[in-house]
Parts: sequence; C-alpha cells; structure tokens
Amino acid sequence: MKHDHPALAAAAETRHESAELHVTGQADYTDDLALPEGALHAWLGLSTVAHGTIRRLDLDAVRAAPGVVGVLTAADIPGRNDVSPIGRNDDPILADGAVMFHGQPIFAVIAETRDLARRAAALARVDYNALPLVLDAEAAIAAGGDLVVEGMTLRRGDPEAAMAAAPRQLAGRFAIGGQDHFYLEGQIALAIPGERDEMTIFTSTQHPTEVQHMVAHALHVPANAVVVNVRRMGGGFGGKETQMNLFCCVAAIAARKWRRAVKLRPDRDDDMIATGKRHDFLVDYTVGFDDGGRIHAVIGDWHARCGFSADLSQAVTDRALFHGDNAYYYPAVRLRSHPLRTNTVSNTAFRGFGGPQGVIVAERIIEEIAYATGQDTLAVRRANLYENGQLTPYHQTVEDMILPRLLDELESSCGYGARRQAVLDFNARMDAAGSPIRRGIALTPVKFGISFTATHFNQAGALIHVYADGSIQVNHGGCEMGQGLHTKIAQIVAEALGVDIARIRVTRTTTEKVPNTSATAASSGTDLNGMAALDAAETIKARLTEFLCAARKVTPDQIRFAGDRVTAGEDVIAFEDLAQLAYLARVQLSATGFYATPKIHWDRKAGRGRPFFYFAYGAACSEVSVDTLSGEYVIERVDVLHDVGRSINPALDKGQVEGAFVQGTGWLTSEELVWDDTGRLRTHAPSTYKIPLASDRPKVFNVRLAEWSENPEATVKRSKAVGEPPFMLGISVFEAIGHAVASVAGYRIAPRLDAPATPERVLMAVGRLRGAAA
Ligand code: MTE
Ligand code: HPA
Ligand code: MOS
Repeated sequence: MKHDHPALAAAAETRHESAELHVTGQADYTDDLALPEGALHAWLGLSTVAHGTIRRLDLDAVRAAPGVVGVLTAADIPGRNDVSPIGRNDDPILADGAVMFHGQPIFAVIAETRDLARRAAALARVDYNALPLVLDAEAAIAAGGDLVVEGMTLRRGDPEAAMAAAPRQLAGRFAIGGQDHFYLEGQIALAIPGERDEMTIFTSTQHPTEVQHMVAHALHVPANAVVVNVRRMGGGFGGKETQMNLFCCVAAIAARKWRRAVKLRPDRDDDMIATGKRHDFLVDYTVGFDDGGRIHAVIGDWHARCGFSADLSQAVTDRALFHGDNAYYYPAVRLRSHPLRTNTVSNTAFRGFGGPQGVIVAERIIEEIAYATGQDTLAVRRANLYENGQLTPYHQTVEDMILPRLLDELESSCGYGARRQAVLDFNARMDAAGSPIRRGIALTPVKFGISFTATHFNQAGALIHVYADGSIQVNHGGCEMGQGLHTKIAQIVAEALGVDIARIRVTRTTTEKVPNTSATAASSGTDLNGMAALDAAETIKARLTEFLCAARKVTPDQIRFAGDRVTAGEDVIAFEDLAQLAYLARVQLSATGFYATPKIHWDRKAGRGRPFFYFAYGAACSEVSVDTLSGEYVIERVDVLHDVGRSINPALDKGQVEGAFVQGTGWLTSEELVWDDTGRLRTHAPSTYKIPLASDRPKVFNVRLAEWSENPEATVKRSKAVGEPPFMLGISVFEAIGHAVASVAGYRIAPRLDAPATPERVLMAVGRLRGAAA
C-alpha cells in the first residue's frame, strides 16, 4: 500500500501489539490465569421452560453431589438481583419466582472442580407452572405489542401527504434475522475476595466500569470496593458489552459467600443459550417514488424481538432508525421503532448495534425501486444519495458526503459496468444452455454515524506513567478485543512523545487506574481513549519542556521530541536520560488525560439533534454465483473501498474491514438462529449454527482504504472509527444473491429475499419468482 504521509508508511509496519502472543498461544486470557489456592468453580442451572413460575426448586441432590460446596439462588444475593444496564430492574441475575426465557439462569452450583459443578447442576429438580408464550416479533405484534422500552419516532416533512402525492408507491415487509456473536473466547469471570468487603474480578468484558457497578450493587458494597480487570478479550463483538455482568455477579456473590476465589465459565452451548444476540426485526415499509427512481417519501416501522428485558434494546432500536436512510435522502419521512417484549433471551449489542438492520432496509427499498422502474440498482442508489446540506430523518445536517467520490473510484477500479454486463450475458447464456448457474452483482454504499447516541457515554480517560528509566506505561478506559485498540493508543502516545513504540506498554484495563469509563463500543475506542491518552501525553511533554527550558536555558521552540530523543537547543538527550534528570529534579512524570466529544447533542423525544460527531463511509461490490437448483452460492469476488479518514494503522484497519465484511456476510447468508415452538434455541453449537469458514470467504477479496480521506472533524490524527461500519458492506453480497435470483424472472420482479439468505431461502425465492414470471 502506498502512503503520502511518511508517518503513515511507518505506521503501516506497526503490527498488533499482541500478535506474537496470539499466534504462539502465550497471550493471557482470563481462563489462562493461575487460580489462587482453594479456588472454586461455578456452573449455572438454566430454565427448561420459556415462560412460567417456579413451583418447586429442589436442589437437595445438587447439594449432596460430590465436590459440591454449595448452591446459590436469588435468595443468596446480598444486594440487588439485577444487572439491567439502564437501571430498569428487569434483568435478574438469578430467576426469582418467574422464568422469562428458556435457558434463563435459576441457580448456580459451586464445586471443587468445573466438571463436578456441571454434573451436579444436572441433578436439580425444577417444576414450573407454564405461562403463555410470545416468542417472536410477529406473535408479539399479534398479542398487542408489549414493549420492553418506549419506541422512538423520527419524522421530517409531511410523509403521509408526500406518499399520497408520489407518482408511485410500493409497500413490503422484510424479515431480518438475528446473529450469535460466536466470539472464540466465551463468557468468563474470576472473582477473588479480598479483606473486608473487597472483590477483585478478572473477566472478559467490554465494559469493566459497568461490571464494577453491577458487582457492587449485587454485593451491596460501594463501587470503591470492587476492582475489575480486563487484559484482553478473545472477541466481544458487542456480546460482552452487558452480558458479562451476570457471570461476574454470580462469581462475586459465591466468592463473597465462601470467601474463596470462584471462576465461572459456561460451555459454548450454555453461552449461546443464556446470552443475548443481535436483534431480529420485522420491518414494514412504504415508499413513494417517481419513474426516474427518486424517493419522495418513506414510512417505516421497525419491529424488534428484544427478548424478555430491555438491556440495550432502546439504543439498538434507536440506531436502527438512525440508519434507516443509510446514504439516501428521504424528502419526507416517518420511521418508528417497536422494541417488542418476547419470551426469549434478551437481545443485546452486536457490531453495528441495530445500524445494519436499518441500512439493509434502505437497500431493500432501493432494490424495490430499481426493479419497479427497470433500472440498474446502482443508478437508483446514486440518484438518491445525500447531498451536503440535506437533513437526515433526525435533523442532522449531512456535511461531509464523500460517497460520490467513493462510488466513482470503486465503480471504476472494480470494473462494475463491464462486469455487470458480463453477468447479464453469462446468465442469458446459462439460461439458453439450460444450466442452473446464475450470477449476480451489486455495489452498495454505507454511511454510519459515529458516537454513542446517549451523549454522556462519549467521554474517556487515560493515565500515563513515565518511569525514571524512560519506559512508559499507558492505561486508558478502552478494552482490547482483537481490534488493535491498544496498538493504536501506543502509536498515538509514541508519536506525541517522539519515542519508539517499544518503550510503551499498554497495561490491562482496570477500574483502579481509569474510573467511570464507557463500554468499548460504538466503534469509538480509539476516538475517545486515543484523545484522552494524547491529552495525558501532552501534559507530560509540557512538563518536560518546562523543565528543559529552565535547565538548559532554552525556549520551548528550541525543544523537539523526535526519534526517541529530545533536542534542546544544541543538546541531544536520550529520552531515558531526560526521564532520569526530570525525576531527580522532582518533575511529575505521571499524568491523567480526559476527552469529551464536542458538538454532539440529542433530544430523543423531539427526534432532533446531532447524535453523531461524524459519519464513516464505505462501499463494496460483490459478485456471486448461485446454483438455482440447490440454492447454494459462492462469493466470487469482492472489492471494497472504505473510509477510515487518515488511518492510524492501515494494517489494523484493513483487518477490521475484512473481518467486519465477512461477519456481515455471515449474518446475511449462513448464520440462522432457530427457536422451536417451546422457545428452546435449537442452534447453540457450531454443529447447527454456521459462521463463515475460511472456505466461504470471497475467492477474490480486494480491500482498499480511501487514502485521500481525512476526518473533517478534529478526531485523533484525523482518523475515523472502523470497527463497525464495514460490517454493513456485507449487504452487497446479499443484494448480489438477489440479483442472481432475479435473473430467473428476467429482472422484472424484486427478489424480496428475507435474511439470512440461506440456500433454502434462495431456493424458495427462485421458485416464487419462476412462478410469478410463468
Ligand atoms: N474486532 C475484533 N477483532 N474483535 C471484536 O470483538 N468488536 C467490534 C469491532 N471490531 C470486535 C472487533 C465491535 S462490535 C466494536 S464496537 C469495535 O470493534 C470496538 O472497538 P473499537 O471501538 O476500538 O473499534
Ligand atoms: N453503540 C454501541 N453501544 C452502545 C451504544 C451505541 O450507540 N449506546 C449504548 N451502548
Ligand atoms: Mo460494538 S456492538 O458497539 O460492541
């Protein structure tokens, strides 16, 4: 990759700070930590009905089983039995009287080994009085639409009048599936009791501060008694933003009760059954448009299966609406969310956080219009792109629209026009030859809003120590989950102090060093913590500069921090020597840093504001082959052009784009969650839940960053967030499959595939279109 900025060329060589540890198996995950003497192991007992009251809970056989030290039920919780992240008191740690979903934790067994705890848990006798079930969005709507939190409405203009006045209208319903996080490392908590009321937790959470508060509430101790530590996660993807709270609380309650360390690590099946997933949605949409394919009005209702409690469903369904326009201007619009309560596990954050379930609806609307007006889908996409100065449905002005340039560059670099014609020709030839193979191609854009929509989460802290030997420790509020956050922070600090990155060690995230942090989420880890770390580094640099000015009789402009040394007029001082001198001169070599994102504000009731500091953009072109006899498909080629502003680390950023893309295609192709009609999840292991394999990746996969882009807002080094936005580029594969399917009816009918487009669904869509065309 070519870089105009020398700093970027160097940065491109900076690999993930834990890369060697990852590939050699030396990286410490929570399960690798040596246990304290006398540590115990916990196992959860899960509900076997989806909705009911507990008539009898007989744990005598469990208590009597070999190796069992005791059991915990709701009655053993010294403090609050709730881990609701929004303080709703609707998320019990252990079910108390009622069970709300199949797989809900009811009790915990504490034993000398994990295996003994697990065997003992199976001996429980639980009798239930079953209650009626509402399992999915459709049933919830039919039952009157009980909501876990209040929905939101975004409105601009007069959508009803504009709809009626539009030359053409179309309406449809789109079912969009959920997704399991399938992080490689599952949920895990190790709680170690200390003296008095103290509790130390080692865990794999995206949100140490929230775990700290939840454990404090559960134990009925102040937050200052609880320390939460995260060295790294083996993937989180949103599944560890809130879901770790329960596991940490159970371990901590047991550790408090028996005054021994307790570890809780569910197996994969229990992890999948008992923790929340991406929300599936049923979306009803109506669009008014003209013969040219221009949108006049959109009215949409997003019905989400939220599960039994609120968790983060309000923010998730809000974000779905915030992205219901994707990159397109709706002159008049009304979007509404319906966060529905169901007797299923409480759904939670997952990469994109509702955004994907908004974006894909905008893309469905575009496809509908394209097929209805007989145009290339890309032409309809272009015709409806935002122009600078236009308002989103939430009344934020779009000011940095770079998609026309991104689309131009990608269209020409991937040869979209010629390849689309080749696809049409190929399909005609296959049709004539009686072959079942069809091809499809689609080029789709993404526009993703960056910032937590709850404005107060957009803050971060950092703590830097320069030791007297010149080595540096950096700590900040963010957690490492593979995305390379610590590497980027180390780069930022190294550059600020003009030192070699080898001097810098980013230490585990801990509530002891940086308090009151936000979840590492919303793709904002580097934006927020990078700025806080920069602030701390600049404080130390200013102190060192002041010291040198006095000591060497120079002025600040004669001082340069670069190349791992410091120049002060004529003098060149090694950084470690400066650290030693400053220490001897009693200069404070430790500093905190802080950052709060400027400019953002949001009034949810009014549906107006500027929830996002800026937008990240991207586009992907995907080509697929579909076997119309079996419904199976192959991703032949993918070209991505993605905007990360000025990249801090192009290697990491490209890795994020590739990983997000593949995860996005998994969501829309093979990953299917199935609950049976008793509310039992039937897809709780890799045998029944299929994430993309290496062999499913695109045969040709060209990923480029838009090297000319820089963030118009003053983000850290003018970079942009990258974690979530490229997830939605996987939608191009979904639309390409749709294109191939549409070929069987001469491209005259929109394929209306539901997601995920499993081979079965593709086959059924082919049959439907053949039937309609006949
Ligand atoms: N990349 C890896 N390797 N593992 C992960 O768990 N999570 C994603 C994304 N990329 C994830 C990842 C999600 S959901 C988010 S919000 C961001 O990383 C969070 O990290 P960041 O804000 O530092 O980008
Ligand atoms: N994104 C991700 N996680 C969150 C958000 C958000 O907007 N709000 C609360 N948690
Ligand atoms: Mo990511 S879903 O914001 O953890």
